[in-house]
Amino acid sequence: MRYRNTWMEATVVRTQQVAANVMQLQIAPEKGMEKFTVGSHLDVSVLINDIPEIRSYSLVGSYDPKAPYTIAVKRLPQSRGGSQYMWRLKEGSKIKISQPTNHFELGFGAKNYLLIAGGIGITPIVGMAQQLAHRPEKQVNMLYLGQSSEEMPFIQELQELLGYRLTLHFSDADGLFDTARLLEMVDERTQVYLCGPIGLMNAVRKTWEQSPFENTNLRYETFGASGLFAPQKFMVNIPGYNKQIEVKENETLLHAMEAAEIDVMYDCKKGECGLCQVDILEYTGDIDHRDFFFSEAEKGENKKICACVSRVANGNITIDTAYRGN
Ligand code: FES
Repeated sequence: MRYRNTWMEATVVRTQQVAANVMQLQIAPEKGMEKFTVGSHLDVSVLINDIPEIRSYSLVGSYDPKAPYTIAVKRLPQSRGGSQYMWRLKEGSKIKISQPTNHFELGFGAKNYLLIAGGIGITPIVGMAQQLAHRPEKQVNMLYLGQSSEEMPFIQELQELLGYRLTLHFSDADGLFDTARLLEMVDERTQVYLCGPIGLMNAVRKTWEQSPFENTNLRYETFGASGLFAPQKFMVNIPGYNKQIEVKENETLLHAMEAAEIDVMYDCKKGECGLCQVDILEYTGDIDHRDFFFSEAEKGENKKICACVSRVANGNITIDTAYRGN
């Protein structure tokens, strides 16, 4: 049960590896480009084990009516197959894409900005840096974190754009970034835009919650939904349907429920909207909450789980859905 998205045919017109394990793809829709704002993403219809699924990729850079859409995809060995599908695309490949949609809109009301990108979370941040750097009345600083320079795309472009206002942090050489340092980079009027892996996002959110700064000054978007545990299979007991199902390591709870004809609402499939949440009645092991819908306190209670992204590690789970089987 999903709503939205008008799908259109498109062609991959260029592929280019822009960092170790990062492929940039330029995509031209047959009916022409739609204007988009920075922070927008495209949904792409991908095939995983011959089953159609949707993956979302941020558009890199600002809208240019003469240029195709640009996205960048990191190859993730532990992914369920979306990144492998995208990496198999060649110049000339036909795909289906959505219109650009923006859930991570850059506001221009502030004077000071801090952009924070972790790894492939750089993709929506590039366009924001371009937009802000070209407005002399704005002060923009950027923190870009990753494992090493080889793993991190667009460094050179960002250095040319931002100069000394770009801070790079390489975890291989510099170790773990201490998010408390962020508080030295901002004041109460700074707007912060953040995109990165779940560990970084959680650490920044925690630091922010403990700071005197307004929650609304920290804006973020997820990409993918990496967790604290490697994906592993688990069993799900659903007494309302009198069913027991297995969730394999390469599928989501939502997908396994749909395959078993268990009704569950969903929309974003990215752990953001909360529509797919189900009640946890019992569990063993650990609930690996990978969503950005529940607060840290709610996650700690382990009373609900977002079926589209979250998983169980080292155990099994009993859930209740809003629906009942016949
Ligand atoms: S469908 Fe949006 S959080 Fe799961």
